[in-house]
Amino acid sequence: MRDVFVSIVTVVSGAVLLATGAYAARSCDTSTASSGFQYRLGDVRYDGPDPAKANDLATIAASLQSSSGTPLYECVSQWPEAWKGWYGGATGLIWSDCIFTGAGTGADETVSFAIDWKVKTMYLTHTFACSGKQGSEGLATGSISLDFNCTTADDSSFCVPKSTSSGARPTLNINTKLSAVALNATTLCADRSKKYQSWKIEKWNRQIEMTPGSSPTNPLVVADTGPSFSLRSLVTGSVATCTNTGSKNGIFEGTCQSQPDDATTTTKFSFDTKLNMLDVSQSWKCDGSSTVDAVGVGYIQAACERVFNSNKFTCASDPVWIGTGVV
Ligand SMILES: *[C@@H]1O[C@H](CO)[C@@H](O)[C@H](O)[C@H]1NC(C)=O
Ligand SMILES: *[C@@H]1O[C@H](CO)[C@@H](O)[C@H](O)[C@H]1NC(C)=O
Repeated sequence: MRDVFVSIVTVVSGAVLLATGAYAARSCDTSTASSGFQYRLGDVRYDGPDPAKANDLATIAASLQSSSGTPLYECVSQWPEAWKGWYGGATGLIWSDCIFTGAGTGADETVSFAIDWKVKTMYLTHTFACSGKQGSEGLATGSISLDFNCTTADDSSFCVPKSTSSGARPTLNINTKLSAVALNATTLCADRSKKYQSWKIEKWNRQIEMTPGSSPTNPLVVADTGPSFSLRSLVTGSVATCTNTGSKNGIFEGTCQSQPDDATTTTKFSFDTKLNMLDVSQSWKCDGSSTVDAVGVGYIQAACERVFNSNKFTCASDPVWIGTGVV
């Protein structure tokens, strides 16, 4: 069941690449946006590691609906069970892309979620173009606490939200509020630490070469360029171009160059190809000697497409928002 769901989402994400740009705008006027936004939660399911795979990965999947019940986004994330939604079990909350189903018109450019499995809280963020404010971008954030019912059978376990006393599926809505209207490059360095740091990963690109006959579910990779991408800060609007400098044991490391060149900003990343986990850290050297550090973690579900008549695959992704901990 879990594998079927994940592979459907992977296929859908390929289709979504073509539908980029089919989204409207939202109001970023703090007086009218104060009532916030809402997504309804459809199916939510946590699966413990599949004993047949012995990979120790837990999977969480949730669908987001409009208030009338139209499925709009499918959110999936996967991490070693012991991490409980946190990178390495401790440092950063793992953010993951929610993929547009293509139904109707989305109002958001990116939708991301994270779950703190230690306390069963799901976080949701979305970014959108601000209507009436050309070029500016809004970020809305929210969370919901979920009460799960877990069942273990045949060595595997899964959890779904508890049903109501009448046995019905509970109505679960996630409310979000405008958190920031982003992009102000003039924000003072020392003031940046007071803002919630987040980025958009854009232009994700990675090329993989597999031996003939191997498949994405059992890849025999003979060459991997590792990722390159752009990192756009939602606090300053600055963009850094990220390239890797090679890999060791399936983990690519790299640095990002700010555009225009900015000597006060240092950005580096690592990408774990086994877990599809991207870890980004940015620091600013402010006047005096104080340094501001921000660390973000994303589970990257890029869709890979085979190059015609070749064993090469090109992996790309729509923009993905990642944050720096709970919102
Ligand atoms: C919990 O799950 C079990 C088995 O799937 C089901 O029989 C039971 O009704 C569920 N209880 C609640 C409160 O959801
Ligand atoms: C950007 O930030 C500076 C300093 O915090 C402020 O003076 C200015 O009004 C801001 N500009 C916009 C467009 O919000």
